[in-house]
Amino acid sequence: MHIWRAPGCGWRITISTLEAPLSSVCLVGGDTIRISWACVDDWNCILVNAQNHYMGLIQTETPYYQPSPAAPAPFSLNTTYNDPSLSGQTSAWALSVQNSSNIIVFGAGLYSFFQNYAQTCLNSSSCQSQVLNVDSGSSISIYSLATLGVMYQLSVNGQGIIPQSANRNGFQSTVTAWTH
Ligand SMILES: *[C@@H]1O[C@H](CO)[C@@H](O)[C@H](O)[C@H]1NC(C)=O
Ligand SMILES: *[C@@H]1O[C@H](CO)[C@@H](O)[C@H](O)[C@H]1NC(C)=O
Ligand SMILES: *[C@@H]1O[C@H](CO)[C@@H](O)[C@H](O)[C@H]1NC(C)=O
Repeated sequence: MHIWRAPGCGWRITISTLEAPLSSVCLVGGDTIRISWACVDDWNCILVNAQNHYMGLIQTETPYYQPSPAAPAPFSLNTTYNDPSLSGQTSAWALSVQNSSNIIVFGAGLYSFFQNYAQTCLNSSSCQSQVLNVDSGSSISIYSLATLGVMYQLSVNGQGIIPQSANRNGFQSTVTAWTH
């Protein structure tokens, strides 16, 4: 069993020179039982070939500068690390799950507050289109997923399937449970 409390877990950590709250990436793989207490603010999480993983109360924020420059700038995608495709998006994934099984996300707050440091997108939930992607080969259960500023709360294979407009809950939108 492995218990991980971010930050400090990163197999790959990159720090941006841009003035921005995020440019760190946490990549998780492997087949041990892993328990993550929070992907802390400003981290994005990528699960690749991971099994038996519990993620509790994770929280992320999309980099405030995006989409100017558009993701993945100032970095580039590298298949060595299984970097996920952005599926045409210009902002980062908060959580990407690829080829992973028995994953539980128990509480997630995935927030996109800005576009190029401006918040005019927030009220219309249009700061970015997608935020959480699961590939069709993964098995996952997600409970209490709250999003802000995004059009689709959840995507499968890069296609948004849960519009935030269906789940407004005050300022945020909340999905109670989703399994795949
Ligand atoms: C998917 O994950 C399984 C289990 O970790 C692994 O054996 C397999 O090689 C992975 N497939 C790909 C295409 O990476
Ligand atoms: C990808 O990462 C590997 C290992 O760090 C490195 O050798 C390679 O140059 C990188 N490729 C690109 C396109 O950045
Ligand atoms: C968002 O909507 C609220 C309530 O209608 C309004 O007071 C606020 O000014 C709006 N914010 C922006 C950035 O448009």
